[in-house]
Amino acid sequence: MKGIVLAGGLGTRLRPLTSVTNKHLLPVYDRPMIYYPIQTLVNAGITDIMIVTGGNSAGDFLKLLGNGKAFGLKHINYTYQEGEGGIAEALSLVEHFAAKQPVCVVLGDNIIEGNIAAAVRAYKEQGKGAKIILKRVPDPERFGVPELSGQNVLRIEEKPKTPKSDYAVIGIYMYDGEVYDIIRTLKPSGRGELEITDVNNAYIKREEMTWEELDGWWTDAGTFESLLRASNMVAETGANKLELQRANEISVNV
Ligand code: G1P
Repeated sequence: MKGIVLAGGLGTRLRPLTSVTNKHLLPVYDRPMIYYPIQTLVNAGITDIMIVTGGNSAGDFLKLLGNGKAFGLKHINYTYQEGEGGIAEALSLVEHFAAKQPVCVVLGDNIIEGNIAAAVRAYKEQGKGAKIILKRVPDPERFGVPELSGQNVLRIEEKPKTPKSDYAVIGIYMYDGEVYDIIRTLKPSGRGELEITDVNNAYIKREEMTWEELDGWWTDAGTFESLLRASNMVAETGANKLELQRANEISVNV
């Protein structure tokens, strides 16, 4: 399984912090933001990693991360996203690197307290399709929100005004080699981007989507409030803990 960290975009919600640099290079407590999603992959045993960057300061990722020594890696792959085409467009750029293997995709501003090792194991056993990870949040309208029926996910709505559950779809996704064909069928959303939520809804339609609920805290860090919260949570409890593991795995086919 290959790992993908999506670290492009213009970070407009964090201007002027992102006027001259990339959001994922900003500090979250004692490390640059992108350290956390890379560690998330490495802690799940995924070491063949590609960073998709773009926007400001793309070259600084190479200078910062080099060949991945800080994470015990021997090599990191990089590619470049031109413009602001959205998460699904960024993902389409890794097709050649993934070479039909499944991928675990982590958004570069998503930070978790624990690890996703159990979810990755469960996805490997699943063998095909996709898996998303959910977390209960007080403000679901900021995220992709699943409509659940019992243990089944019926569909996901992107930033709904009236959320159908109090879960957010967090920015960690697992896909098989079909994902690129799905992305090729997508049309830009109202915000002019190819939405990862549309990719996930396509897998739900195919009845090939499973989900897990994350243990430990999760936050994004793409707004002033969430960036501050991320720093505080990392400072208070630490992130990417290996020992935090779900007692009871939930993995449900729709
Ligand atoms: C993106 C996804 C959204 C997901 C969120 C997680 O939102 O579109 O479905 O819940 O990441 O961080 P964005 O940060 O692009 O607004």
